[in-house]
Amino acid sequence: MAFFSRRRVQVPKVDLEDLPRHVAIIMDGNGRWAKGRGLPRKAGHAAGAETFRTIATFAKELGLEYLTVYAFSTENWKRPADEVSSIMTLLEKYLHEAIETMARDKVKMAFWGDLAPLAPHLRALCRETEEISKQYDGCQVNICLNYGGRDELVRAAKAFALDCVEGHADPGHLTEEAFSGYLYSAGVPAPDLVIRPSGELRLSNFLLWQAAYAEFYVTDVLWPDFSKEDLLRALAAYQSRSRRYGGI
Ligand code: IPE
Ligand code: IPE
Ligand code: MG
Repeated sequence: MAFFSRRRVQVPKVDLEDLPRHVAIIMDGNGRWAKGRGLPRKAGHAAGAETFRTIATFAKELGLEYLTVYAFSTENWKRPADEVSSIMTLLEKYLHEAIETMARDKVKMAFWGDLAPLAPHLRALCRETEEISKQYDGCQVNICLNYGGRDELVRAAKAFALDCVEGHADPGHLTEEAFSGYLYSAGVPAPDLVIRPSGELRLSNFLLWQAAYAEFYVTDVLWPDFSKEDLLRALAAYQSRSRRYGGI
């Protein structure tokens, strides 16, 4: 059994042979982090983007198979236009860098969400990133962008209905597994662990279908302050849980 622990910082031991396959993170708290420092909210988003880089790299080093992050929700358009635009600009910068370093990192990236309302150049960049990284299988990072769990379910229902109308599917034979194939997450196992920094005790429309049996881990640490040790703490908490799936 392999264990990972760090000197100095007290981190519970994590069994690297028994990691969850899929970890999902609601990257929340950027605004509060900035406010606490007397900075504009966009400075919090910039710091949050750095944390994402660190945590995605660490997830790959640990050997996680899938990491899914909530970057922008279908409800986040309600924010002031300059905040939305600063988030999109950060994403663009990140993707340009990711394309540069992809051959080294071997991370496979996918976007979950409706990319149609994004600026055409950003949409094209997302598709290019997905396309280039298809060949890699190190760790799959799914970025939820203009993502909403309800929106995803409605889209899936529409796509299924269309298949029925066109004679490719039959409502009488629809199974949970077949329905999963209509979601953005098609082919990816459900998240085992959902982490929410910043202390809010809600899902905020994240992975409504997929998180049905996920374990939850909430911490008061704000996302820009979320460290590798915090991820290890979440993994250790996960390993101490008993998952029963309705059984005994
Ligand atoms: C998460 O941080 C980033 C996005 C939702 C895009 P917030 O911006 O929601 O930070 P708080 O919740 O206001 O602190
Ligand atoms: C959830 O955070 C969305 C993302 C982290 C992208 P929010 O800050 O939007 O969630 P609420 O508004 O607190 O529920
Ligand atoms: Mg928030």
